[in-house]
Amino acid sequence: MANSTDQRSMGTVAMRWHGDKLELLDQRLLPTDEHWITAEGASAVAQCITDMVVRGAPAIGISAAYGVALAARHAGGADWQGDVAQAIDTLAKSRPTAVNLFWALQRMERVLLACQSRDEAAEQLASEAVRIHEEDLAANLAMADHALDVMHPEQAISVLTHCNTGALATGGYGTALGVIRRLHERQLLENVFADETRPWLQGSRLTAWELARDEIPVTLNADGAAAAILASGKVKWVIVGADRITANGDVANKIGTYSLAVLARYHNVGFMVVAPSSTVDMALASGKDIPIEEREGTEIREIRGIPLAPAGVEVFNPVFDVTPASLIDAIVTEKGAVRNPDKAGMKSLFA
Ligand code: MRU
Repeated sequence: MANSTDQRSMGTVAMRWHGDKLELLDQRLLPTDEHWITAEGASAVAQCITDMVVRGAPAIGISAAYGVALAARHAGGADWQGDVAQAIDTLAKSRPTAVNLFWALQRMERVLLACQSRDEAAEQLASEAVRIHEEDLAANLAMADHALDVMHPEQAISVLTHCNTGALATGGYGTALGVIRRLHERQLLENVFADETRPWLQGSRLTAWELARDEIPVTLNADGAAAAILASGKVKWVIVGADRITANGDVANKIGTYSLAVLARYHNVGFMVVAPSSTVDMALASGKDIPIEEREGTEIREIRGIPLAPAGVEVFNPVFDVTPASLIDAIVTEKGAVRNPDKAGMKSLFA
């Protein structure tokens, strides 16, 4: 995985691992600047996750794993294990909603606890982080296959997506955007409508950039245009990713996903969630238990320092919402698809 470019997404990658440092493409500056930030320790990686240099549930988990590997390299003295455990704690506080972060940190912690020396930990934790990265890419490719089995389009279709779920948000290729890539590869994609995804604009700044770069047909729309697009009959499926899926099939994803699911059901359009099993939290009974991150009001009041609202106006900025399972036609993971998800369907997938 070191220095690799993922040919399957035409070289778009969110991170580059060098063994002694992690480079992260600063997603805050896209689409205008391609600037890489170098993180040499776990705190720097945690800060990059909090500040959204790197974002998207799987990419957050993978970056955090590399952060733990860096912590082991720098740990010294008798309490090297305590130092790495401290780094895991710091990384766990970086963002609250995407469960991939905690899943990856638990995997890293298990490896840490099995190591007898600092040198062994440095080597084993780096290998585990690379494995997490590679497994995510493999999961994305498998999910694209499962999703096409669910959709079985007989001719080219148009889809609508929300937020960014592509190579930038994952180990490469993408979750929902991976399905879209696969449709395009099979000449089954007419067009992608990409919600701009207010307030952080992952759709316009990242998804439109990624798709345009890979010459995949994309039309950018304001979030509020989604209803009119679905009413027009042009779109067969709404395809989104997830930040946490609970045991009953409820899905936390980028704010605005829930309203899309309501719209899709009203207009008889399919609604599919695509996420690796690392996004599934079987320990939570339902979406009511998911911690929803609220971010600073400045993300809504201004864009890159330019005011868009009266200074100091009260703002409500939850950055995720929960879509009830009853509005979802299929949840696709690398283990397979659950149609009309519920507790029994989710349980059988993970049995
Ligand atoms: O706040 P973000 O940009 O980290 O939110 C990302 C999303 O909500 C994505 O849709 C989700 O993580 C799936 S990414 C494959």
